[in-house]
Amino acid sequence: MNTKKKLEDEINFRDMLKNPLRLFGWVFPIIIVVMIGLGVYYVKNLSLISLNTQPVNAPDTTNIKKEVALKLGGITPAIDMAVIKNPTKEFIAKGKTLYDSNCKSCHGDNGLGDGSAGAMLNPKPRNFHTVDGWTNGRTIDKMYKTLQEGIIKNGMAAYEYLPSGDRMAIISYIRTFVEFPPIKDEELASLDQTYQLSKGTVVPNTIPVATAEKKLSDENYAAVKKISEAKQFLAASRENIGAELIKKSAQDVDKVISSFINGMQNQSVDNFASLVTANPLNYGFKPTVSRYSKDDLAQIYSYLKTVTM
Ligand code: HEC
Repeated sequence: MNTKKKLEDEINFRDMLKNPLRLFGWVFPIIIVVMIGLGVYYVKNLSLISLNTQPVNAPDTTNIKKEVALKLGGITPAIDMAVIKNPTKEFIAKGKTLYDSNCKSCHGDNGLGDGSAGAMLNPKPRNFHTVDGWTNGRTIDKMYKTLQEGIIKNGMAAYEYLPSGDRMAIISYIRTFVEFPPIKDEELASLDQTYQLSKGTVVPNTIPVATAEKKLSDENYAAVKKISEAKQFLAASRENIGAELIKKSAQDVDKVISSFINGMQNQSVDNFASLVTANPLNYGFKPTVSRYSKDDLAQIYSYLKTVTM
């Protein structure tokens, strides 16, 4: 009670309300504290704040790996050119299935170019029932070219990733909508020549990145292990002339051993001697090694050969 009274004596609240500027004296320390707080926060987080051109949690797209499946390569089946000329029912049915899943959205159920996905496109997806106005053309070789390269500027994508047999099946199906120009032997011959259809295509094996990385690191691990083993031998060896010479002449023992493992191993003694004396630093030796005799270098060589075997 007493202190409150005292406070009221000291601070004249009434007066303060009348003259609000005087409040500043009380608010001022609070502002100072807040400012200092902000300042400390800013300095502590400076690295984050100054780097804040990107959201902190945005994924680093350079690091995103798209994994491929482990797949045995081989030769995609060659195309029987006779089937293209006289497509079987099954071939056309396969074409219809592929058309429905890949092309129908733009070119429409019956190839009228009225698919919903194509509604906004200009030019409109080709109406396969019309005869005129095709960009590439409606002969089989031109249609195949369209699927191979697309007509990108007009919104027609390339379908080069579909196996050539599948593309041929789709074309055979499209050709059932209306009467198309008959297939000429020259067209087939030129198609075959350009795209090697009757030979089939070689598809390389693919292995997932993770597997490849593991393989590499295993191999790398084996090499590292070999180097460290060889180093231990070297350190432990006593009174071996080769080992002593290496200890004396090596600038970088790791490099001596690793360059030996990675290639020198398969050289003859003479080649080893001339390579090392010509460019000692390259192989981890001190320049003085150039003055070593042939015998000394042979000792080094044979010692390295035994410890890296
Ligand atoms: C995203 C929509 C879209 C899809 C999906 C699409 N097309 Fe097209 N297609 C177009 C457009 C747009 C054109 C018209 C291009 C032009 O006139 O140059 C076109 C044109 C064509 C032409 C005629 C080329 C010419 O010479 O004028 C053929 C043939 C064709 N498409 C086949 C296909 C086949 C087969 C598929 C499925 C594997 C397919 N398209 C899927 C949009 C599409």
